[in-house]
Amino acid sequence: MSRTPVDPTTTPAWQALTAHHEAMTPDLREWFAADPQRAQRFTRTVGDLHVDLSKNLISDETLGLLLELAEQVGLAERIEAMLSGEHINVTEDRAVLHTALRRPAGATPPLVVDGQDVDTDVQGVLDKVYAFAEQVRSGAWTGVTGKPVATVVNIGIGGSDLGPVMAYEALKPFVQEGLEVRFVSNIDPTDIAETVADLDPATTLFIVASKTFTTLETLTNARLARAWLWRRLAEAGAIEDTDEARAEAVAKHFVAVSTALDKVAAFGIDPSNAFGFWDWVGGRYSMDSAIGTSLAIAIGPDAFGQLLAGFHAVDEHLRHVPFARNVPVLMGLLNVWYVNFWGAHTHAVLPYDQHLHRFPAYLQQLTMESNGKSVRWDGSPATTQTGEVFWGEPGTNGQHAFYQLIHQGTRMIPADFIAMAHPAHPLVDVDAPGRPDVHELFLSNFFAQTKALAFGKTADEVRAEGTAAAIVPARVFSGNRPTTSIMAPALTPSVLGQLVALYEHITFVQGIVWGIDSFDQWGVELGKKLALEIAPAVAGDRDALTAQDPSTRGLIDFYLTHRRA
Ligand code: F6P
Repeated sequence: MSRTPVDPTTTPAWQALTAHHEAMTPDLREWFAADPQRAQRFTRTVGDLHVDLSKNLISDETLGLLLELAEQVGLAERIEAMLSGEHINVTEDRAVLHTALRRPAGATPPLVVDGQDVDTDVQGVLDKVYAFAEQVRSGAWTGVTGKPVATVVNIGIGGSDLGPVMAYEALKPFVQEGLEVRFVSNIDPTDIAETVADLDPATTLFIVASKTFTTLETLTNARLARAWLWRRLAEAGAIEDTDEARAEAVAKHFVAVSTALDKVAAFGIDPSNAFGFWDWVGGRYSMDSAIGTSLAIAIGPDAFGQLLAGFHAVDEHLRHVPFARNVPVLMGLLNVWYVNFWGAHTHAVLPYDQHLHRFPAYLQQLTMESNGKSVRWDGSPATTQTGEVFWGEPGTNGQHAFYQLIHQGTRMIPADFIAMAHPAHPLVDVDAPGRPDVHELFLSNFFAQTKALAFGKTADEVRAEGTAAAIVPARVFSGNRPTTSIMAPALTPSVLGQLVALYEHITFVQGIVWGIDSFDQWGVELGKKLALEIAPAVAGDRDALTAQDPSTRGLIDFYLTHRRA
């Protein structure tokens, strides 16, 4: 495998796409009118997901050229390289094997990477996580006073938080009654203080989740949580003020998830209460590793297993389905089409499902920490734009906030709309005329938005409504604003796994076209280092303050003047 990425801009497909873009005058009204089969021809399926690409600015020729681009940058080989455990994370010299986390037990042939039987390792940890989850769920795991766990508090940040919290919110209907999971991530002390304020320490279990077990936020919050536990248990008379009693409290109320089990032990957590994973699992790709322990406790091993099966179904699709029908490949290529040929800077992800309200936030780390790069995997500069901004909020809330800009702004914002057929709460508005089914009203909005974005409203149509001439332009909708609609029967654990895997692979496909390493994240390091250097100045050290640049010094001065105000 060549270490040098193909420069996509030098490929014949790129030249052809440039010319194709210049020649294209998007007209979705006309394209649909001229081709009654368009919706059907551009709809694909992956697992349970029905993916309608037809409201994108594409023709058969567009897709053909994008598929040629995929071939010319060597996408197929790169997919195989990832799945087989090559060190495609070159700047960290690591394999990228989140797909191994969801291989079914007994998969053949076994996956051996760097001399290690990955399948056996994965199943071993999974068994341990499941056994622990069962103990907590059944009440067999008790705190120092002998009470079962009522609240699990996951302490982690980035990939050690966003995946578990997103999935916990998404799968609320599957959470065992009487169990609650809370999440602490921010080093803003407000987060931990308010999260634990009303908890009973005797029934609280903390999970410290950190791949490296060095992250400032997580370790600070873990120490604050431990101090809170000791103080509150002592106040309640549940433990003595002795080292042994405190150690026992940690043993019963703290477990950890990490690749650094030595650091877990140094914190005081018994390594037998720790769940490991491996450096080939990137933080933002880790929710289906032991990082998902809080989720496994909440929804149970069966549902967690279904989640993993959903992920795996999409991995298999990526690997085996021809690119012309391969949904993550097509969606990744479409994103390239919009970023590089249409100049799109952002991409909206708009779930019409309240349970997916944290999905856009989760995707922000997945996509932007992965593809926010300006050098390629051989260290040379990127040759074209990379990494668009992903953002979004659930519908219909977003409709009353930022959709104006998507409908009528000057920028193109490709958007993915996601909805489930089955409502989590089937409610009828019995007091409204016609007693409407509220989920149907909700989905009507989902259908209406992509229709409005695609087909718009002409000046003639606005005038025909009797609108005064002066305000006709303000009420015209240009249409031709691209969207992809993703629907599934219901938000089950399996469907959630499919959705997440879909976006993982979309991100990967884009990274391959751009020639970047989507699996490192050096861009987060400088700020972390500077924060540690600045901390003494913030604590009042005059020399450290003087060493700062004038702007930073002024800001710290403001803080020092006003902190007690
Ligand atoms: O700062 C970014 C990052 O390294 C993410 O990539 C990661 O998910 C997060 O921090 C948390 O890291 P850890 O799990 O090692 O605490």
